[in-house]
Amino acid sequence: MHDRSPLVSAFVEAARSALSSATVDGATKSALAKVFGSISSGRPLSASRREMFPVCALVDPLLEELEGKDERLGDLAKTLRPLLSHLGWRRREGGPNASDNFMDGHATGMIIGPGGAEDRHDVWVGLTIMRPNVRYPDHSHPPEEVYLALSNGEFRQDEAEWFDPGIGGVFHSPPGIVHGMRSGEAPMLALWLLPIVPKPSTS
Ligand SMILES: [Fe+2]
Repeated sequence: MHDRSPLVSAFVEAARSALSSATVDGATKSALAKVFGSISSGRPLSASRREMFPVCALVDPLLEELEGKDERLGDLAKTLRPLLSHLGWRRREGGPNASDNFMDGHATGMIIGPGGAEDRHDVWVGLTIMRPNVRYPDHSHPPEEVYLALSNGEFRQDEAEWFDPGIGGVFHSPPGIVHGMRSGEAPMLALWLLPIVPKPSTS
C-alpha cells in the first residue's frame, strides 16, 4: 500500500474540518460521510502531465483572499494553493443555457478522482472556476453532489429560484437533478464532492 501525498492529506483534513463545521441537512451529511469514507486512505500524486488554462490564474488570488477572510475556509485555501498545478484541469463543451463566453470562461480541476491529483474512480472531488458573468450549462448526473461555495455566485436546481449560498455555504444536489450555476460581477469558485456508487456487476 502506497501512502497518500502529504499535499492531498492536508487538503482532505482541511476539507473534512471545513465541511463538518458547516450547518448541513441530513442528505448532505450522508453524502459527505460516503465521500470521506471512500477517501480515508489514498495513493501518491499522479505523475500525469498537467495543462492549465488562462482562467486558472484566477484561482490562487481568490484562495489567498479567503485566507484573510475566514479561519475555517482559510485553512482549506492554504492546502489548495500548492495543489493547483497538480489538478486535472478540464473544460467541458457548452450545453443548455450556457453563456457564449462559457468555454474560455471556465475550468474544472479534479483533485481526487479520475485524472485528478489523486487518480481514482470511487469519488470525484474538485474545483470549478468561472470568470465574471459566465453561465455554466444545466446538467445532471446520477451521483448526488455536495457543493461548498468558495466565493459568491448563484446556483439553481430544476426550475427553482437562483440562490447564492454565500461564501462557505454548503448544499446538496440530489441524484439526477438538473442544476446549473452562474457568476455575477466577480469570478466564482466552488468545491464539489460526489460519492460514486459502483455500477452493479453485469455478470
Ligand atoms: Fe454537477
